[in-house]
Amino acid sequence: MESGSPVHIADLAAHEAYLRRDPLVVALVELADVRTCLFVPLLKDDELIGALGINREQVQPITDRQINLVTDFAAQTTIALESTRRERQYREAQMALAHANRIATIGQLTASIAHELKQPLAAVVIDGGGALRWLARQPPDLDEARSSVERIIKHADRATHIIGGLRDLTKQNAPRAEVVDFNEAIVEVIALTYSEAVKTGVTVSTRLAPQLPRVQGDRVQPQQVMLNLIVNAIQAMSGSGGGARELQISIDAVPSEGGVRVGVRDTGPGLSPESLSRLFEPFYTTKPEGMGMGLSICRSIIEAHGGRLWAIPCEPQGALFQFTIPATRADGS
Ligand SMILES: Nc1ncnc2c1ncn2[C@@H]1O[C@H](COP(=O)(O)OP(=O)(O)O)[C@@H](O)[C@H]1O
Ligand SMILES: [Mg+2]
Repeated sequence: MESGSPVHIADLAAHEAYLRRDPLVVALVELADVRTCLFVPLLKDDELIGALGINREQVQPITDRQINLVTDFAAQTTIALESTRRERQYREAQMALAHANRIATIGQLTASIAHELKQPLAAVVIDGGGALRWLARQPPDLDEARSSVERIIKHADRATHIIGGLRDLTKQNAPRAEVVDFNEAIVEVIALTYSEAVKTGVTVSTRLAPQLPRVQGDRVQPQQVMLNLIVNAIQAMSGSGGGARELQISIDAVPSEGGVRVGVRDTGPGLSPESLSRLFEPFYTTKPEGMGMGLSICRSIIEAHGGRLWAIPCEPQGALFQFTIPATRADGS
């Protein structure tokens, strides 16, 4: 086998390995009823990576034609195995890269996220103090105290929401198949980026869709796409001159395509023909600190979900990035 040639044994029970009672060969003959057998090596660059074996329970030699057939099949098998391995490696590298990009993007938002968390926490303290004062009255004003406590719960929920979104986006999980509520998913991402927008002087408007088709897939991956698009939009506007800085985020159901369409529109400097043709290339960046991986990762995520991602220059200024994701079909595919 190591020489790379097929090994044909017309009768294993007559083979010297059986006659000297090699335990493996004895087991093959006496327990598995193997008599005639053929082993064809799987070779990759002259290295033995496995073997393909066929056997018969009767002594009936395998013809040269059959041996050639199995040899051809073994060569195909080697190619298939190799391409599966490459594909897996590629997928793993992509996942690691996407994770690194996510961490880097969130890293750029750390200060804003901390600020975003301080607000509900400060509000908890204020409403907590209020509740104590209502309770200290003679007689205590229970209705007012109750409202204060209800507000405390709301503030705490908001903080939990922000942290929850952050945790989901930073964990490196294998993609899950779940029903994704796109409205909720985007609200989470907006919560993470809101302070960054405010800091940059950007007004954010959001238009959610009242009714969306069921989309089955991973929630975090489309969120990563939204995060990249929103951060790009804010960064694009941070450099631009005194004009209006508006970020419009929209979600629509697209019945004709049976899916969901998300749009992120900004009023930044827009897209030159040069940048329009290169935006989605890996490592294309015009930012001093940029990685240039964001949009290329976004596109591969969206395409893996069967959707499309594209960019459109806007009049009088700015850019619109849109992506679609198809809904779950009835057969679950
Ligand atoms: N909203 C936008 N407006 C204008 N240019 C953009 C916008 N989004 C992306 N770009 C351009 O595309 C480039 C690549 O973006 P991206 O792949 O996210 O990498 P990075 O953000 O690290 O530069 C950016 O450097 C920028 O030149
Ligand atoms: Mg980016």
